Amino acid sequence: MPERNQTRILLLVAGLGGAIGTTVAAAATLMQVRPEQVAPYLTTPVCAPDLPAPMAFQVAGWDTQPRPLVEALAKSAIVPGGIWREVRSGIEAVPLLSAPPVGAPLKVRVETLLTDIEELRRRWPHHRPVLANLLPAAVDPDLTACTTLEALLAHPDAGTLPDLAYVLAALKAGIPVINFTPNRVEIPPVAAMAAAAGVPLLGRDGKTGQTYFKVVLASALKARGLRVDGWYSLNILGNADGANLDDPGRAAGKLANKTRLLDEILGYPVADAQGRSTHKVRIDYYPPRGDAKEAWDAIDFSGLFDLPMSLRLDLQGRDSILAAPLVLDLARWSVALMQSGIAGPVSDLGFYFKKPVGDDPPITFAQQLAALDRLAERCRRSRP
Ligand SMILES: NC(=O)c1ccc[n+]([C@@H]2O[C@H](COP(=O)([O-])OP(=O)(O)OC[C@H]3O[C@@H](n4cnc5c(N)ncnc54)[C@H](O)[C@@H]3O)[C@@H](O)[C@H]2O)c1
Repeated sequence: MPERNQTRILLLVAGLGGAIGTTVAAAATLMQVRPEQVAPYLTTPVCAPDLPAPMAFQVAGWDTQPRPLVEALAKSAIVPGGIWREVRSGIEAVPLLSAPPVGAPLKVRVETLLTDIEELRRRWPHHRPVLANLLPAAVDPDLTACTTLEALLAHPDAGTLPDLAYVLAALKAGIPVINFTPNRVEIPPVAAMAAAAGVPLLGRDGKTGQTYFKVVLASALKARGLRVDGWYSLNILGNADGANLDDPGRAAGKLANKTRLLDEILGYPVADAQGRSTHKVRIDYYPPRGDAKEAWDAIDFSGLFDLPMSLRLDLQGRDSILAAPLVLDLARWSVALMQSGIAGPVSDLGFYFKKPVGDDPPITFAQQLAALDRLAERCRRSRP
């Protein structure tokens, strides 16, 4: 039986049972009864106040772990129980589906997910579906030989990146995709498929904490004519993402995304006299911290007469509390873009990502904000 007709976003989450997924489920459910606890922490009401997209969400998704969402929320304690207990029944009603078996061929996994998506769409026929990919960071398979979709589906290594099944199923179903993970799913045949299907592709690697402030500070140093001589960034975190990133193969993509953008913003390589990079980024798994990530930055820079100065930043953040509102924001952008006919990789959302997809993404903080303004204006102008 289709459920009641309300204009909402149907947010389909791959990895729903994880730290960000459960926080998103709690925030989206709370939004229905206490919008004042969630809405002020979104970016879209500020940077795109007239974005033609619903502010209400119905969440559903998949996970390999069948554990109920309320159990996962209680165990992780990312969102204090006193905040979500009031909407416990709403969270319990969020459909959590079994992920397709990882050993199955990619094509079969895509078909299984398409059946799930059809069923969810039947249940909420008036909602606007969006896929958010929140799977764990993975080792990047070499899929450069795959220039066509057929080649991708047949490639033996494509199955090692489970994200691809979700992304391909969403695109086949004409559903926009948010890739919040560092996993490189926006390979040429996928980007071409999104463009051909008229579906926006947003990504990659959400920019939530340290890297967000790195973009702001690097842009500020550049604008002030101060030269960066070195930048040391250390992260400690103790959640499942941190444990996963303890594997150097899985951390490689994230470290590259966190490192590359500094030189791009400044317009020169941050390096010593011998050309050796002096931009260091480390991520250490440190269990006592759980989701309460800490990030230090030691920034060495020089000014007039080449005289050295230094700056320290100590961010005591909360990984999923910073990430979840961005997922809701990106779902709103996805709906607005889709309705405006903006398809394929969307580079103008560089504000939200460490490694924005598409051509010529905005680089400095000012450029990223200006790009959001432009994009919001395009969406407003083509409002149906
Ligand atoms: N928290 C942040 O600030 C931040 C910032 C940028 C990027 N990210 C990325 O976002 C992603 C999610 O982060 P998280 O902290 O929620 O991770 P997490 O490990 O807590 O959650 C991932 C979830 O995916 C599930 N899963 C694994 N394989 C699956 C499959 N094949 N199908 C369905 N579900 C599957 C896991 O069981 C788990 O519940 C990670 O890739 C992380 O690197 C996080």
